[in-house]
Amino acid sequence: MGDNVNAGPNTLTVRDNRTGREYEVPILEGDVIRAIDLRKIKVQDADFGMMTYDPAYTNTASTRSTITYIDGDVGILRYRGYPIEQLAERSTHLETAYLLLKGELPTQRHLNQFVHDVTRHTYVHENMTKLLEGFRYDAHAMGMMISGVAALSTFYPEAKNVTDAGNRWAQITRLVAKMPTLAAFCYRHHRGLPYVYPENEFSYTGNFLNMLFRIGSKYKPNPVLERALDILFILHADHEQNCSTTTMRVIGSSQADPYSALAGAMAALYGPLHGGANEAVLRMLTKIGDVKNIPTFIEKVKNKEEKLMGFGHRVYKSYDPRANIIKRTADEVFDVTGRNPLLDIALELERIALDEDYFVQRNLYPNVDFYSGIIYEAMGFPVEMFPVLFAIPRTVGWLAQWEELLLDDEQKIARPRQVYLGADTRDFVPMSERK
Ligand code: SDX
Repeated sequence: MGDNVNAGPNTLTVRDNRTGREYEVPILEGDVIRAIDLRKIKVQDADFGMMTYDPAYTNTASTRSTITYIDGDVGILRYRGYPIEQLAERSTHLETAYLLLKGELPTQRHLNQFVHDVTRHTYVHENMTKLLEGFRYDAHAMGMMISGVAALSTFYPEAKNVTDAGNRWAQITRLVAKMPTLAAFCYRHHRGLPYVYPENEFSYTGNFLNMLFRIGSKYKPNPVLERALDILFILHADHEQNCSTTTMRVIGSSQADPYSALAGAMAALYGPLHGGANEAVLRMLTKIGDVKNIPTFIEKVKNKEEKLMGFGHRVYKSYDPRANIIKRTADEVFDVTGRNPLLDIALELERIALDEDYFVQRNLYPNVDFYSGIIYEAMGFPVEMFPVLFAIPRTVGWLAQWEELLLDDEQKIARPRQVYLGADTRDFVPMSERK
């Protein structure tokens, strides 16, 4: 028998047929994921174990976590054990943020304190407006946001002290508070409008809407839109080890400050396969233009000339529970804004995709990005703001995951390995001898 690790029900016996050695490898038991700990398989007494070859880590548990639970086969999403449906129905974004960050629903006193602290950190340093002035009027809001968040790190040098709990909480509060302000300033720069500064009497989303859309006189956010945005923020707050959260963790593992790590996470989110999909969905629906053009578009998707943006998911191989809630929220928004004609195209696309073998065989269902963009457009947001509207609430999840990483004694600086298939050693060739 090879390196004997307590052989039993929670181990996997691995036989190396080249050496004849057998290894008992421990299995880490999770609710959905069972993971083998390969560190136990030592190779030639090296200080690391047998490697797994797992491009894009699609079959790798990179961490232990207690924050978010997803069961993609049955469409379950829970934040700290609470079903997303109940949180969307009964909670607020800041209450859900506290839950994700602290692990428990806040008491009224704790929530009041958190809302008070966030409300009083919504201003950004006035020099940030000078940074934004350096962008063209038509600069993409996400490009401005990524730069802006990275720049925030220069105003809080103490944020580098990531091992101090009180300092971490101060930066977390600042980032949750300032993201809507920075986003609104980017929007106002894009529109060539003067900045509207935060006002404490508004709610988190009400203040955001005021900073975005106030023109001249007093602005009163429509309560239906204010609540719809709050629900959308709850739904987008966290989603376990997705691409951008993994990025946040990888950068955080080098003990970089949270502003720099968050700028990196936003850059990952920006991609059209991830949080940039909501913008891509709107452009796709606009390009289709009419329900009668859907069959032609579907054929292009089947021929792989197009992707059905807003469909498919690495983990959800059934419906994305967030998409169902967003679809219901759309109706409430359209009662206020008027029905977005793109909804007819979206509904017909969904009907076809849920019916056709090509999509059913590939488990392609609407995801969180399919309907959100239609709501954002109806609320008056330009498509360039859509990924920003994803990044604002996801800031909470990124920070909760970042802090969990720092507190996990099993974590080190992220440093994956590779299977090297390149050239063997060879000598330098002088230019005169190169062909
Ligand atoms: C988010 O990970 C998260 O949790 C992310 C997120 C979060 O909250 O953080 O949920 C947010 O990013 C949602 C996903 C938003 N992206 C999109 O809507 C972009 C369109 N969707 C895809 O590109 C795709 O579905 C992914 C990237 C989301 C998932 O891709 P997978 O699981 O790696 O699937 P795959 O690329 O291996 O595709 C499997 C098959 C392929 O066909 P075959 O090669 O087998 O013939 O399905 C096809 C793909 O071509 N396919 C699609 C498709 N998605 C997959 N075909 C057409 N349209 C699509 N959207």
